[in-house]
Amino acid sequence: MRKVLLVGGAGYVGSVLAEELLERGYAVKILDRLYYGDDGLRDIRDRVELVVGDMRTAQPDILEDVDAVVNVGGLSNDPTAEYNPRANYEMNTLATKKLAELCKQQGVRRYIFASSCSIYDRGVGNDFRDVIQDEESEVAPKAAYSGSKWEAEKILLGMADQDFCPVILRKGTIYGFSPRMRYDLVVNTFVKFALSQGYITLHYGGEMWRPLVDVRDAARAYIACLQADEEAVRGQIFNVSYQNYRISELGLRVREALRGVGVNCDIRVDYGYKGVRSYRVSAQKIDRVLFFRPKVSVEESVQDMVEKIRRYGYDDFENPKYYNIRWMRLLEEAHKVISITGSVFDAPQTGE
Ligand SMILES: NC(=O)c1ccc[n+]([C@@H]2O[C@H](COP(=O)([O-])OP(=O)(O)OC[C@H]3O[C@@H](n4cnc5c(N)ncnc54)[C@H](O)[C@@H]3O)[C@@H](O)[C@H]2O)c1
Repeated sequence: MRKVLLVGGAGYVGSVLAEELLERGYAVKILDRLYYGDDGLRDIRDRVELVVGDMRTAQPDILEDVDAVVNVGGLSNDPTAEYNPRANYEMNTLATKKLAELCKQQGVRRYIFASSCSIYDRGVGNDFRDVIQDEESEVAPKAAYSGSKWEAEKILLGMADQDFCPVILRKGTIYGFSPRMRYDLVVNTFVKFALSQGYITLHYGGEMWRPLVDVRDAARAYIACLQADEEAVRGQIFNVSYQNYRISELGLRVREALRGVGVNCDIRVDYGYKGVRSYRVSAQKIDRVLFFRPKVSVEESVQDMVEKIRRYGYDDFENPKYYNIRWMRLLEEAHKVISITGSVFDAPQTGE
């Protein structure tokens, strides 16, 4: 049996991937700081080895008995990266590099890194720049988040050699249910608004393009990279996307899918500028090289999501833990108070 170290394995993608790995007979060790708790591990807690810790201070023994590393940890969106660019750089770039160095030292050959299609962002309003981009396209990410991913990619690619096989997955925006749920991703946000408010909002007229992919397909893309011949994936970047949609079309598709499960909602349009991202990508390379093609459509995923939100009670939509930036801010505030008060309800120790 092969053992995989899953960094960030309690996260939105990580917890689904952990389950998919277990189903295929892999042993799974998770290194996670548990920023969002351990809901994601609810059904698999007794079948994984969990190490609660920070990826920035990982020690060589974390790789004991490990055959491959998948790194889906760190800050995972623009707002959290901008909130604390230093922490973002430390986690997404420096810790990614450090883990790769540990792999090299310990003879762990395969290292798969979660990058992002937001590296391709070209914004809206320039039609001549609105083209489908592939892994060869020139990129120049400016945001803290995408910049840190790109830096990490370059470092990892530079480390590839006969004994070390780094692989980079640039994922589109993910949709679908995960036991560690996020409602701050566009399709999931639409579903949350439809269920809780009866409408969804298209920002900036919904003009932006986005590559999108279901969370289970994203997990299967990692597994395809784990199982592939080294020669096929060493030092390679792969885009992972089911399809590119304009947000306006996405809204219509989500509304239609929801209708199919008895949820009716309006579509509202907000033309105010929101600093929107826009990009579309080709996902042909991963299909050509690994015969991997995502299969879960937005419609199927939305219907599955509604069913699971209801079945497992993920309808406390205003709980801040579903929104990375809200949750991180809250933790910071709480930390400030608790570092002064100590325990919230216990009386302070007086030494009497
Ligand atoms: N969700 C998406 O749409 C999407 C799209 C493209 C790329 N990605 C990338 O995929 C990866 C996973 O995304 P996600 O949606 O599952 O994010 P997430 O925020 O749900 O999960 C990240 C996990 O990493 C853990 N973590 C964060 N910092 C850590 C640290 N310093 N040490 C140890 N653990 C730490 C968190 O506790 C959490 O469990 C991220 O690298 C993200 O940038 C996500």
